[in-house]
Amino acid sequence: MPAPNSSVAAFVAEIAALCKPAAIHWCDGSEAEYSALCARLVSEGTLIPLNPAKRPNSYLARSTPDDVARLEHRTFICTTDAAEAGPTNNWREPVAMRAELNTLLDGAMAGRTLYVLPFVMASGTPIEMFGVQVTDSAYVAASMHIMTRMGADVLARMEGKPFVRCVHSVGAPLAQGETSSSWPSNPTHKYIAHFPETAEIMSFGSGYGGNALLGKKCLALRLASVEAHKSGWLAEHMLIVGLESPEGEKAYVAGAFPSACGKTNFAMVEPPEDMKGWTVSTVGDDIAWLFAGPRGELRAVNPEAGFFGVAPGTSAKTNPVAMDMVGHDCIFTNCALTEDGDVWWEGMGTPPDRLIDWQGRPWTPDAGRPAAHPNARFTVRATNCRTLDANWNAPEGVEISALLFGGRLSKTFPLVFEAQDWAEGVLWAATLSSEATAAAEGQADIRRDPFAMLPFCGYNIADYMAHWLAFKDKLTVDVPIFRVNWFRKDENGRFIWPGFRENTRVLRWVVERARGRVEARSGLLGGLPRHEDLVNGSGSIDAARFDILMASDPDEIRAELEGQKRHLAGM
Ligand code: GDP
Ligand code: PGA
Ligand code: MN
Ligand code: MN
Repeated sequence: MPAPNSSVAAFVAEIAALCKPAAIHWCDGSEAEYSALCARLVSEGTLIPLNPAKRPNSYLARSTPDDVARLEHRTFICTTDAAEAGPTNNWREPVAMRAELNTLLDGAMAGRTLYVLPFVMASGTPIEMFGVQVTDSAYVAASMHIMTRMGADVLARMEGKPFVRCVHSVGAPLAQGETSSSWPSNPTHKYIAHFPETAEIMSFGSGYGGNALLGKKCLALRLASVEAHKSGWLAEHMLIVGLESPEGEKAYVAGAFPSACGKTNFAMVEPPEDMKGWTVSTVGDDIAWLFAGPRGELRAVNPEAGFFGVAPGTSAKTNPVAMDMVGHDCIFTNCALTEDGDVWWEGMGTPPDRLIDWQGRPWTPDAGRPAAHPNARFTVRATNCRTLDANWNAPEGVEISALLFGGRLSKTFPLVFEAQDWAEGVLWAATLSSEATAAAEGQADIRRDPFAMLPFCGYNIADYMAHWLAFKDKLTVDVPIFRVNWFRKDENGRFIWPGFRENTRVLRWVVERARGRVEARSGLLGGLPRHEDLVNGSGSIDAARFDILMASDPDEIRAELEGQKRHLAGM
């Protein structure tokens, strides 16, 4: 507990007076506390313990069908001046928004426990940010244990420092004697509101990770991007991955792909058989804070402490590292349940004859609907990952040799190409587009998603793009920029590139390019790999199919450039 006169204590007292919880619990971040939270969630029916012989210390949660993904249309940036939020964010005037939320929060935690979660993102780095989240969800408290560095020692370190005030309520107060439903949330009112001017976040009505774990998207991307703009760094929606050659040379690459477009998989990719001696290591899978180092080099830290990953599509074949990672001490959400008390999802392998689907209903393979929700997720500590990089939590971060930007595009865009220089790379990032995924509700079939930050940039996107252009001046070490696309399809609608572990070949080519050790041939869009350099004798894709994968159709490119012009004109 903090000193009663501290600003943290005052904040908690103020929120408690408004929300009127039955109890207040200051989280210490201990293992015992995590176990107690899980035990409580089991008794309330939120968590189903999985078979310990199959998956030790693991649980399954099932949400309501209206609370399965991020809600972009209910996400707001609240600034005095609407222009600060820019053309891509939903804007609300802060005073009016706070009044609206305070009305909803009045008594919202009745009958529930208010958990206080002191946490820090990018702990120990020169750009660390503190937050205190109050929440009436034990599921959120347990998830924050996994995803952030939090607890009593963080609270002690925060003393006298600024922190982001994070208020979260599922918006499901309990009447006297009423017991909680298994997934408390509010069916009518949902808000994820950000107040950059006063360093506050208010989230109401949803328990879903991206809406409710406020250290992640809300703080480490939306508010941190505002802070980064002011202070000369970058808060990005990026994975960070290391590649070490058989000779022991190591390089790190950071990559921005929109949600559900391959970050987590690429961050822990296992090299194919023929790349013996090459090792991939994982620094981060979703968020990177980038800054210039003392030599004018680009450096990156992962501000998080866990992974909140997409389950469907993960298998021993596509991602053995992730399969091992979620083998124990894991919270699953909206996966299917097997008869022997384990989880299952589409893409894991042959389905069992009978399952309980993500909504708790009996399911058979002929059901005509998926057993797991397409955005079913796992939540695990980073330390569960066997490829975790030795420097994953180094306060000085890791040096970045190249940047990647990628979308999910079935047409037009080749597997990889290199931009001519920083400014051209920024242009390719600013005009990134991608097809809809299950990670957020109500996406258009295809949309422009600048820097994969469309849902996460906390300020005017035009200022953000200018900030990226100007950031180059801080760097004296060259960082090449690449566009990648794992998702191009052939005329039969099949992925042309096998993807997953084969993506290591792209990583190797990118790193070799950054070192100036391999030639690029010039293509319509930029520098392209030669077939022999990419496959390196492995035969993973033959020359004819590789040509199809890498081809650029001039008419398609012309139409794309027209689309880019329209997009940028609207910024
Ligand atoms: P993230 O949300 O950006 O972290 O993306 P994930 O790594 O979780 O992947 C999202 C979805 O895309 C999952 O269903 C994956 O199985 C799938 N995926 C990831 N990488 C590849 C790839 O290289 N090829 C194909 N075809 N699918 C992929
Ligand atoms: P993702 O993270 O990028 O791994 O999908 C969650 C999200 O962006 O909503
Ligand atoms: Mn993400
Ligand atoms: Mn991910």
